[in-house]
Amino acid sequence: MYPNVFPSSHPLVLHKVTLLRDIDTEPKKFRELIREISALLAYEATSDLLTMPRDVETPLAPMVGAELREKIGLVPILRAGLGMVEGVWELMPTAEVWHIGLYRDERTLKPVEYYNKLPIEPTVSVCLVLDPMLATGGSATATISVLKRWGVKKIKFVGIIGAPEGIRTLHDTHPEVPIHIAAVDVKLNERGYILPGLGDAGDRQFGTG
Ligand code: URA
Repeated sequence: MYPNVFPSSHPLVLHKVTLLRDIDTEPKKFRELIREISALLAYEATSDLLTMPRDVETPLAPMVGAELREKIGLVPILRAGLGMVEGVWELMPTAEVWHIGLYRDERTLKPVEYYNKLPIEPTVSVCLVLDPMLATGGSATATISVLKRWGVKKIKFVGIIGAPEGIRTLHDTHPEVPIHIAAVDVKLNERGYILPGLGDAGDRQFGTG
């Protein structure tokens, strides 16, 4: 594995991912699990954020505490990444959410940008790119390229299940981007699904399967 890949070993994450994989888990429970796992992974992924001193008065005495120094942006990969936003937002409610829409051109197999309203100058110092399934890695890699062109200095990928193929592609293109993931599975099948995986994360969240 690569030095920048951080599979979670947290027992709560492992337990919840197993429930998420279960074919009998209904969309309502599936969405709840996506939110909970995303919060736990985001907690791990943000352990190196910078803070600055902040004066605070407790009921008993003044002291110097800490305040986050970084402005955080959440960038969900559509559509399955949308369900991860709520969970991460619980931890960092002032985070900005930016949407970048990409689809895969069936002829060239390359990602094509169809939605991007990023302002000229970056408004955040760190971005968490959210996608539950890191399958081929095409969308994550292209989204991170857009964020780099925007000027974001610190970018992290947060996902739930990764295929070795997607991890390799993302790592080879953006080796400095940490990959926080709950599980690394065996491989992609011929239709681009992760095995054993959990099926289609979009369909299972939105009840469209
Ligand atoms: N996207 C999904 O939702 N599931 C996979 O297994 C691969 C990509």
